[in-house]
Formats: sequence, C-alpha cells, structure tokens
Amino acid sequence: MQPQLIDPFQRHINYLRVSVTDRCDFRCLYCMSENMTFLPKKELLTLEELDRICTTFISMGVKKLRITGGEPLVRRDIMTFFQSIGRHLESGDLSELTLTTNGSQLERFADQLYAAGVRRVNISLDTLNEEKFAKITRWGRLPQVMRGIDAALRVGLRVKLNAVALKGFNEEELIPMTQWCAERDIDLTWIEVMPMGDLGNENRIDQYWSLKDLRSQLREHYTVTDLLERSGGPARYVRLEETGQKVGFITPLTHNFCESCNRVRLTCTGELYMCLGQEDMADLRTPMREIGEDDTLLKQAILSAIERKPKGHDFDYSRQRADGQMSRHMSHTGG
Ligand SMILES: C[S@@+](CC[C@H](N)C(=O)[O-])C[C@H]1O[C@@H](n2cnc3c(N)ncnc32)[C@H](O)[C@@H]1O
Ligand code: SF4
Repeated sequence: MQPQLIDPFQRHINYLRVSVTDRCDFRCLYCMSENMTFLPKKELLTLEELDRICTTFISMGVKKLRITGGEPLVRRDIMTFFQSIGRHLESGDLSELTLTTNGSQLERFADQLYAAGVRRVNISLDTLNEEKFAKITRWGRLPQVMRGIDAALRVGLRVKLNAVALKGFNEEELIPMTQWCAERDIDLTWIEVMPMGDLGNENRIDQYWSLKDLRSQLREHYTVTDLLERSGGPARYVRLEETGQKVGFITPLTHNFCESCNRVRLTCTGELYMCLGQEDMADLRTPMREIGEDDTLLKQAILSAIERKPKGHDFDYSRQRADGQMSRHMSHTGG
C-alpha cells in the first residue's frame, strides 16, 4: 500500500498513538497532580469508535499502533478492543500493535494481549526501590508491577522499560537498573522530563535531569557502541557490548528529534494532535459521528490535519524556565 499520509515536510506518517483513557490508577509526580479532574465518561469515544478511527488510519497507510493513556489497561473491556484490532495484524495491513503501560494490570492481561497479537510492551518504571516507587507514583505498589513484568516475560512479550530521568531521584539507579534489565533481557530507555500540564505543587525545573552525560556515565561501566537505528522515533540507542542490551535515550530538551517524526496522536475524545509539543489539534469525533458508515469526511479531516503537522516542538529549559510548556497533561495526549 502506498503511504497516503505525507506531511508538508515530506515525512510519512505511518504510526498512530492512541490514548484510550485519560484515567489512571497511579498519580506519578511528573505526570499528574494529586487531584486530577478527569473527563466525564460520556465524552469518551466508545471502543467501537476508537476501532473505527484506527481502522481508517490503517486504510490510509498507518502500520504501527501504540495504545496508551492514562493507563490503557484500566479502561473497561479494553481487551475487546485489542482483540478486534488484532484482525488488521492477521490481514497484514498493520505491522505492529503495542502498548505503553504502567504494568499494574499486566499480571491479569499479559496472556490476552499476546493472544490478540501484541508482541512488545513498553512498561514505565522509574525506580527499583519500593519506597521510592510509592513516592513517585503516589498510589502505585512495586510488587504488583514486578508481577506484571514477570507475567509479560513469561507469556513471551518483548519488554522495554521506560524510565523518566528525574534529578535527585533516580540518577544513581542508572547502573543498577541497567544491570537488572540485562539479567532479564529487557531493553531500557531513559526519557527527559517534558513540560506537560500543571502539576500542582511540583516544579518542572527541579525535576529536570539532562541526559547529555548519560553516554559517558555508561562508558565508565560498559563498552558502549552507538547505534544508528532511529525507527522514526525520538529515541537514540547505544548497545552495551558486555550485556548485548540496548539502552535508549529520549532527549527532547537537549536534542530536537522532530525532523524524522512519523507519528500523530489520537486522544480518547477523538482529538488528533499532530505534535506532542504543540497545541494545534483536529477534531475527528464530529466528522466521524456525522457521517454514519461512510468514511469520506473522516478521511478528509485526517488528510487536512496531516497537512498542518508542524515542523517540531519548542520545549526549552535553557532559560531556567519551562518554555514551550503544554497546558495539557501527558496522560491526555498519550505518552
Ligand atoms: C503518560 S504515560 C501513559 C501510559 C502508562 N500509564 C505508563 O505510565 O506507561 C506514558 C509515558 O509518558 C511518560 N511521561 C508522563 N509524563 C511525562 C513528562 N512530563 N515527561 C516525560 N515523560 C512523561 C511516562 O513515564 C510514561 O512512560
Ligand atoms: S505516567 Fe502513566 S502511570 Fe504515571 S500517572 Fe501518568 S498515565 Fe499514570
């Protein structure tokens, strides 16, 4: 199938991230305030509507879907959505169906995810210390997540850990977490904290640990080889020769990775964000609901949104302020 979604900068859009809920069973300090107001349930797209929009994107050349949130696995009946979308893997129209999860529900769902065709999961984990984990997630329990990781590995899912780099919190865990992952054949990616949404009393600048020295820190312990692969995403990777594992870093604040961006993001209310770091979005819910079974208007709305995909984000902490700050939380757009 020829790619049909090409933006003004000649980037082929073949990757859709879908936030299926803005709700979560955790309240991570860098992601949410303690008293979050969530969307009324009636505002959410139904699972059938989410399926319909995803299917339309797939018919327009999207090859990879990542399901995220909020916490995707707390949405009621979400397994029926995975099972249904799995049909596009069987037909070959979709190459990959993945999800990003905090791991709390994986013990329950890992085998069903595998049966639906999911082969890789990203699990977010910022620390291996139980007390620190409780602090950073406010509501999370580490043993539950560990059981989820074990379940995912047991059913044969390939696991990647995502850790948000937080100053004064997990800097000293760089090597212990790398080793822990190596023992389980898990890849690890570190993410610089981005200025998304109001956090109540927390301050972004206080949280920011720049990853520009990460390579040299790893070199003190391992033989580090830079990898060229980018897969259209923001992560850069190195391989640690002693363990064979990949370590990635997502550095929106110290590098701009937008030139190769291949993705757009759908929220659980049907808004399409063409860039994580810009406010512009397109409403897909109205054209979808207006037109019954015919997808013409929905396709037109998608095409005209892609024509507006901006060149890049403007995140910047260099002036000791969180410039480029987004009013919405990461859980809204889907991380
Ligand atoms: C919003 S969460 C949604 C999926 C799921 N609840 C999870 O935690 O994996 C997706 C990813 O965004 C990351 N994240 C949230 N807020 C962030 C921020 N302000 N800067 C950088 N990453 C953030 C999380 O650590 C997580 O890896
Ligand atoms: S990062 Fe994920 S687990 Fe943490 S509060 Fe945000 S949505 Fe929930």
